[in-house]
Amino acid sequence: MKKLLITRPIADAVMEQARLKFDVTVHADGALTVDDAAKALANYDAILPTLGDAFPAAAFAGELRCQMIANFGVGYNHIDADAAAKANVIVSNTPDVLTDATADIAMTLLLATARCAGEGERLVRSGKWGGFDGKGIMGTHVTGKTLGIIGMGRIGQAIAERGHYGFGMNVVFHNRSYKATKVPALQLNSLRDVMSEADFVVVATPGGAATTKLIDKAALGAMKPTGIFINISRGEVVDEDALIDALEQGRIAGAGLDVYVNEPHVPDRLLAMENCVLLPHLGSATQETRQAMGQMALDNIIAWAEGGEPPQRVN
Ligand code: GLV
Repeated sequence: MKKLLITRPIADAVMEQARLKFDVTVHADGALTVDDAAKALANYDAILPTLGDAFPAAAFAGELRCQMIANFGVGYNHIDADAAAKANVIVSNTPDVLTDATADIAMTLLLATARCAGEGERLVRSGKWGGFDGKGIMGTHVTGKTLGIIGMGRIGQAIAERGHYGFGMNVVFHNRSYKATKVPALQLNSLRDVMSEADFVVVATPGGAATTKLIDKAALGAMKPTGIFINISRGEVVDEDALIDALEQGRIAGAGLDVYVNEPHVPDRLLAMENCVLLPHLGSATQETRQAMGQMALDNIIAWAEGGEPPQRVN
């Protein structure tokens, strides 16, 4: 039997299938360091890792037993897929199955930030709520406003659909290349144009070198003072310090974040602000979606083990 390392527990039904076909080890000590990853690549035929597990080029430098890495997640910026290819290691990911769940979390953050849901929840739980207050906590309207999407891939388009059909929003977007969309949406000339026209900016690009700090101080500076910033992609796409400065100085109105530069670390300055809604990377976190992700990752490993082409291969 081929040896398979699964780096974090996944759905029981998927685990049972994996155990029938492979000699499975589940890594019990949290995310893999580079050293752990190098050892795993030396000792297992296949690995099913996830976000937080570090597979940079250095992890692929030694003598490798591993031929297949099936990432649990669509984003694989924690894996150097080129270095893997050079070392004859196939990498796959889990696209499509998490598109709706992740678009839903973008809307959750957008609505929660606009309507001060975090602040309101904290007030109720504190026991200090004094009853209906016509001039108390007051958010900003969502319906009919302009939604600016940065990165119009599968998830960006699912967010556009929700904004347009669900909330009558006017959708504008920025994408590296020309993108035709099914939903009425206008591709603007520059990132800056989207940042300045939108009432709500939602970042939905992949992570990695090409997008690191794409949203910098200047981009944030182009936003309206009433603008709300949402990130459901990767923390590194945004200059986190510049975002915090903009929030603290009232240059933008609020932020809803599912991702951070240094997860699971969340800067104290963010935690201190009432106008930020902060989630612990829940984009794909529904039972149905997580099961589908596990199944897709395992199916890619099975395809490889049977001598076929893993359907979601990325390198
Ligand atoms: C989650 O962030 C993923 O990339 O699947």
